[in-house]
Amino acid sequence: MKNLLSMEHVTPNEIEALITRAIDIKHGRPVMKLNDKTVVNLFYENSTRTKLSFEMAEKKLNVERLPFDVSTSSVSKGESLYDTCKTLEAIGADALVVRHPDNKYYEELEHLNIPIINGGDGSGSHPTQSLLDMMTIYENLGRICGLKIAIVGDIKHSRVAKSNAEALTKMGAEVYFSGPVELQDNTLNIPYIGIDEAVDFCDVIMLLRVQHERHESYAQMPKAEYNALYGMNKERMDNMKPDALIMHPAPINRNVEITDEVVEGEKSVIFEQMTNGVFMRMSILESVLDGEGSNNHAFEKRYAVTQ
Ligand code: CP
Repeated sequence: MKNLLSMEHVTPNEIEALITRAIDIKHGRPVMKLNDKTVVNLFYENSTRTKLSFEMAEKKLNVERLPFDVSTSSVSKGESLYDTCKTLEAIGADALVVRHPDNKYYEELEHLNIPIINGGDGSGSHPTQSLLDMMTIYENLGRICGLKIAIVGDIKHSRVAKSNAEALTKMGAEVYFSGPVELQDNTLNIPYIGIDEAVDFCDVIMLLRVQHERHESYAQMPKAEYNALYGMNKERMDNMKPDALIMHPAPINRNVEITDEVVEGEKSVIFEQMTNGVFMRMSILESVLDGEGSNNHAFEKRYAVTQ
């Protein structure tokens, strides 16, 4: 895989290979020898999970990480994203992980000669989150094809909703959206259902954070009111199918889209998603740094224990 920009660009075979490889790594299979590679993580937007799980993945792969802090870099002198990334390519970086507030920022980087991994672009896409979510679903339910999956909450501002709708549909899942009318995105060809309908028949309910930093609406609504109308709580969790999963990409607005007792309740795989994020990001880094893609036949031959 040359780049990971959005789920639009990834084939079902590539998705399957990345998930299989991430699960293999999680189960202790040797990782690739990548200690001659250097990666830079550029986070123009705040992050805890994506940034630190990439750092953990890079450490576990023995990949050299050059520290980059937007606030102390020449970005503060007005240097463009393109010039910043081209500079990092020129000084020898082998790949860049980029999170940026502009949708499709990566289009201006298409002439770079090193891989770009998109760590989230505005309200556009979040492919690494989608891949770790699919890994978690596959590990728990043994398949993705044929599952009924509801993505619930602030669809309009969510890059996770868009990437997951695209990728899960591509993998054969039946995807539904649910949430307040004002936070719907009707440009996507996904049917909307109510939360209680989703609870009735879905195999997976994926909650989304209300993104107050991207808009003002719903900031004033009492938490309990939002939760009763659109959120997950103990009563709804108890009404779900026995093996159904509750997911959330986090960060979580506790007691808004999901109540405290559900966050670590019996159906929740939220912290498992975060654990899987490290293994999925290792799988992605191996794939782009290998230069030939993770599902090529030379891949097996190149495994070597890194320590
Ligand atoms: N899920 C996710 O992208 O979290 P961060 O914003 O903390 O990276």
